Amino acid sequence: MAQTNTATILVIDDHPYSRLATVDILKFDGYEVLESEGNGDLVAEAIKCNPDLILLDIMMPENNGLEVCQRLKINPQTALIPVILITVLDDQASRLKSREIGADAFLLKPLERVDLLARVDLLIQKKRLAEWVEQIEQVLLLIAQTIEDRFDKNFASELSFSQFAEAFGKYLHLSPPALQDLVFAARFHDIGTLAIPDAIMLKKGELTESEKELVKQHVLVGEKIFQPLSSRREVGRIIRHHHERWDGSGYPDGLVGEQIPWLAQIFQILDIYDALTSDRSYKDAVSSENALAILNQEVEQGWRNPDLVAKFADFISQQTQNKS
Ligand SMILES: [Fe+2]
Repeated sequence: MAQTNTATILVIDDHPYSRLATVDILKFDGYEVLESEGNGDLVAEAIKCNPDLILLDIMMPENNGLEVCQRLKINPQTALIPVILITVLDDQASRLKSREIGADAFLLKPLERVDLLARVDLLIQKKRLAEWVEQIEQVLLLIAQTIEDRFDKNFASELSFSQFAEAFGKYLHLSPPALQDLVFAARFHDIGTLAIPDAIMLKKGELTESEKELVKQHVLVGEKIFQPLSSRREVGRIIRHHHERWDGSGYPDGLVGEQIPWLAQIFQILDIYDALTSDRSYKDAVSSENALAILNQEVEQGWRNPDLVAKFADFISQQTQNKS
């Protein structure tokens, strides 16, 4: 035996001989293997077994592997499980379809040992990495929550800030990855304030110039925290640039107009509106109308993207209509 792998693989194949051959290869390599003849509700079976990978035959009497794969990939409970489709028929249409529905690999029967193990090892490593990143993100979320609690934040609407950011992102038809980055930024934009002493962050009166300079550092610290997380690099960019101004008078880089990353432009409007309409220990919340009026003043001052603020105002009026 090459090594002991703790991963579990579900092999779904109606053909007993080919299933056995696959199971042998995998078991010999140290994997835990579960077998299925491919009958009944295979998504439910996958949820129950929760394997690290699924080998799925395409042609089975009760189920079509392509359709099952599609259902697995759209179900949040199974979407992250890698699926290798296996078939005796090497037709172009099935190959194309398998890519379209998000299958992770496509292999021909009879399966070659080296080929199969190379794919399986790689996909399981990829899954482990994704799980690890997810765990790190969970830890970061908890830290972000703790930071929010520290400032006693109380978002005025019934939506949390990240839900609010998601709603505006959807309104702007952002792509799913961009939408995720925006939601992440909503959760983490304050993370850089960890480096700023409580005496300054919680100070009731006016900050001195040197204290203001220190507070400005939060964008750099926040970006630095996200730098090692390559899957969330865009979040770091949003955090770095969310205090830039359209006319170049913002910080930290004094970017002008479209030089400011698009998601940072969107985020800063959400952030300003949230800050204005929220109660804080040092100030009361203003109404939605007043917050929009302040944003429009900032447009006149040259600080914000006029088109984007107009779209935001439309979005808010749509939200208000939906509520009434
Ligand atoms: Fe900020």
